[in-house]
Amino acid sequence: MCEDEVPRAVSPEAPDYLRQTYWWAYGHPLAVWFWDRAPLINLVLLGNYRRLVAAALSSLSNPIEGAVLQVANAYGQLVPRIQRQLGEQGRFDLVDVLPLQLENAKRKLSLPDKRIRFHLCDACALPFPADRYDFVLVFFLAHELPAEQRRVMLSEALRVLKPGGRLVLLDFHCPHALHPFRLWQKAVFTLFEPFADDMWHNDLAGYLPAAVPHAVLEKEIFFGGLYQKLIVTKEEGRSRISGGAGFLPGQTGV
Ligand SMILES: C[S@@+](CC[C@H](N)C(=O)[O-])C[C@H]1O[C@@H](n2cnc3c(N)ncnc32)[C@H](O)[C@@H]1O
Repeated sequence: MCEDEVPRAVSPEAPDYLRQTYWWAYGHPLAVWFWDRAPLINLVLLGNYRRLVAAALSSLSNPIEGAVLQVANAYGQLVPRIQRQLGEQGRFDLVDVLPLQLENAKRKLSLPDKRIRFHLCDACALPFPADRYDFVLVFFLAHELPAEQRRVMLSEALRVLKPGGRLVLLDFHCPHALHPFRLWQKAVFTLFEPFADDMWHNDLAGYLPAAVPHAVLEKEIFFGGLYQKLIVTKEEGRSRISGGAGFLPGQTGV
């Protein structure tokens, strides 16, 4: 279902954690105006922004001829770079729970482009059937979610991935004990990103649903372990999860 087809009555509400914890980051035009600048994003990621975007893009095929889903918009150049990498047969779906974020993504793309669709929906209730996408990309969303929503979001991401497809996750990771930015990053988490601390104590793959056969194909860490990329594939086999949160309203898929 594309954004234009979503009746207003079923438009998702912003989840509590977005309204209460990330009110300063995504939901207001001033926040978008302030944060969506390459030098600032690069500063937040301690100079690693380009490298992390390159790591994400290199995990997709080039050109992309299959179907890609990006779960949540990201500030910066990731979305237009995906458009540039799309082949003629490629398809790119972008979901976000905030209309403002989808509008902001559209502003950076050359549109119309019939290969690209925008979906106003919650990542924890994707309105897509199972096994649809060759690639599902989740760029720095997992750490922003409370643990339970993180599990549901990853379960949804894996549900809509085709068997043999690639789920590409980029996020924070526990740095080396003597990492020079360890205390700085800890302070940022404490002040602004209360759920991100989980990334230091738990393996990100541990939030994937045990009920769906999957395997971690690749784990790469960056910048002294502060960031990670995981590539996960869904294996053939009978999933114990049927339907999906968004596809069958009322079920959470976990
Ligand atoms: C991908 S995350 C963080 C990315 C990183 N801070 C950046 O911008 O590069 C930010 C996006 O996630 C979206 N988001 C947060 N929770 C969501 C959810 N449950 N479903 C869909 N989008 C969500 C926000 O609206 C925002 O656009």
